[in-house]
Amino acid sequence: MKIVTIVGARPQFVKTAVISREIQKHTHIQEIIIHTGQHYDTNMSDIFFQEMQIPVPNYNLGISGSSHGAMTGRMLEEIEKVLLQENPDCVLVYGDTNSTLAGALAAAKLHIPIAHVEAGLRSYNMRMPEEINRILTDRISTWLFCPTDTAVHNLKKEGYTEQNAVIMNVGDVMYDAALFYEKIARPSETISNLLQSMNEFYLATVHRAENTDDISRITDILKALEAISQKKPVILPLHPRTQKLIMNMGIALKNICVIDPVGYFDMITLLKKCSGVFTDSGGVQKEAYFFQKPCVTLRDETEWVELVEYGFNTLVGANYGRILEQAAMIDAKKMDWSHKLYGDGNAAAKIVKSLER
Ligand code: UD1
Ligand code: UDP
Repeated sequence: MKIVTIVGARPQFVKTAVISREIQKHTHIQEIIIHTGQHYDTNMSDIFFQEMQIPVPNYNLGISGSSHGAMTGRMLEEIEKVLLQENPDCVLVYGDTNSTLAGALAAAKLHIPIAHVEAGLRSYNMRMPEEINRILTDRISTWLFCPTDTAVHNLKKEGYTEQNAVIMNVGDVMYDAALFYEKIARPSETISNLLQSMNEFYLATVHRAENTDDISRITDILKALEAISQKKPVILPLHPRTQKLIMNMGIALKNICVIDPVGYFDMITLLKKCSGVFTDSGGVQKEAYFFQKPCVTLRDETEWVELVEYGFNTLVGANYGRILEQAAMIDAKKMDWSHKLYGDGNAAAKIVKSLER
């Protein structure tokens, strides 16, 4: 059996790490990895492959930047060429990036069955590029591997049960990754040294288009993080997209501890040691929960609604006042972390078993 896996962006490297590891246990399955090149900096790509021992991609298409349409279109064309050459039994795609949609479209047009990991998630905000990507990918996939019951329910509401697709709640592969890698993750020297000078700190990440494409939103978020940093340090490993924006806008951040994006092992260290998390990332919202840290989400909605329902996560948008209000309460939050919202840590095994069948 031959599977072609499409990856391109940082969260997909984390997800494929555990599935590739699982596939390697099955000698009759051959995995061919296509890296679209969407993320290309060493600390946005290579570091994940090295630390997490993800097999070196068989193809790197080197496609990044430019507009959404151009990026997706160029990926579609190049992925199609590889699929024609490799003739796989199935194409595996993750999440909701442009690489996901390009991979799924290329496969669908060649009538190759698609497995979508993280299917069924919805923000119900069609202005988000991710929402467009995930809805279209779900629609043309044969295996819809959902991380939660809510995701399964979303698909049912949209009539997916009428289609010839396999819908399964397998749990979240990011939970598998957190459980596996926390045992072996060691921080880099840079992060170890940084943490020696800080007893307590908050962890923040900001990169989503809805925040970075709107000057007033990014300005309010950064102002709020600056204010919070005056009371307790905020470490902000900053996505290159946001770094470039800040540089172009000439914003000077005096209090926030801004660092370059870090690898997954450093991220695990920061998540474990921080007092709380401020983020607009999808993955980091869940990882805050995995490492039992309260999370304040810098978005107006989330696909991970169960975190909000149970009180682990609070949505504040890009509202300066609401961010500070939550910051004032975050340290006092006492929560029951015993719920298992994202499965049992065996999502990868369930996915590979299902594909084998
Ligand atoms: C993409 C995903 C987003 C995901 C994020 C994970 C889409 C539509 N969005 O957003 O859902 O949350 O990845 O991090 O696919 N850049 C670099 N170096 C890199 C990568 C990016 O400098 O290694 C800069 C480039 O200027 C690039 C910009 O960041 O144009 C945006 O990158 P892009 O991949 O288009 O989107 P992300 O914001 O990373
Ligand atoms: N991440 C990382 N280093 C960073 C920021 C994030 O390793 O500097 C990891 C994070 O722990 C998670 C994944 O990247 O596993 C999430 O990626 P991101 O926030 O870029 O994307 P999203 O989940 O929002 O699509």
